Amino acid sequence: MEMFRHPDTVRDLVASWRFRGHRIGFVPTMGYWHAGHLRLVEAARARCTKVVASIFVNPTQFGPNEDLAAYPRNLDRDLALAQRHGVDLVFCPGPAEMYEPEHDTWVEVPRLSQRLCGASRPGHFRGVATVVTKLFWIIQPHLAFFGEKDWQQLVIIRTMARQLSCPVEIVGCPIVREADGLAMSSRNAYLTAEERAQAPALFAMLQHLHRLVEAGQTDVASLTEAGREYLATHLPLGRLDYLQFVHPDTLEPRLVVEPPTLAMAALFLGKARLIDNHRLV
Ligand code: PAJ
Repeated sequence: MEMFRHPDTVRDLVASWRFRGHRIGFVPTMGYWHAGHLRLVEAARARCTKVVASIFVNPTQFGPNEDLAAYPRNLDRDLALAQRHGVDLVFCPGPAEMYEPEHDTWVEVPRLSQRLCGASRPGHFRGVATVVTKLFWIIQPHLAFFGEKDWQQLVIIRTMARQLSCPVEIVGCPIVREADGLAMSSRNAYLTAEERAQAPALFAMLQHLHRLVEAGQTDVASLTEAGREYLATHLPLGRLDYLQFVHPDTLEPRLVVEPPTLAMAALFLGKARLIDNHRLV
């Protein structure tokens, strides 16, 4: 396995692979890998002959009061995992390799970026779309793999790639969960034991809503109320940021649950902000 910090070195090696007919799969990450990241690597290995992963805690997607400095990192462990799971090249630049000091070129998908997570994280998706565009230019993969846990991010990347005519196929991969249902996330490391014990109630709430929908409830206002009540009982340490029912492709809010509808939620819990989503119909 190769490990490079510099975009030019990455570009040259991947170009030689492409020239020899390899199909390049790319897994962008911010590191501190867990089974969710490894699922993306496996999906890439299944469809590609060379797998490139990036590990870069991207400063431009963090707000001024967010956790950039505290974001968990363990590069040695990530590299060992990458090697064991058959990654061919890990690109781990520092901020100086990715951004010049006067960086002032941005990729924005404003309509999809302002709602849901974007409402409480202004500028976040601009940073994501910009760094992913840069990574696509550096690596020029045939396919790129993203988790459905960050559903809004996936929709934004798909839209960005399509509208900018990026020659990259965007592949979404299912959410990987802990045994108790909590969606895996590097930020789960922030949770205290007490918070961690309550955290699975976020997904349990979405499953509860699923059962209500199966029993015939389709009114979004009453489902929202039911979700809030569930969290007040089972996740009293949390503070709900949003619970929304949307069309999965457009993220347009729904007034009634009709096919297809995705429930999306975000919740502040101690130092962490958890997100999750679940297809209702
Ligand atoms: P990061 O949070 O490290 O996630 C990297 C990829 O892993 C994303 O596509 C994310 O959706 C996926 N992922 C994380 N947890 C998952 C889970 N439990 N199940 C399935 N997939 C999961 O997302 C980012 O980094 C950044 O925004 C990035 C795209 C790298 C741009 O900086």
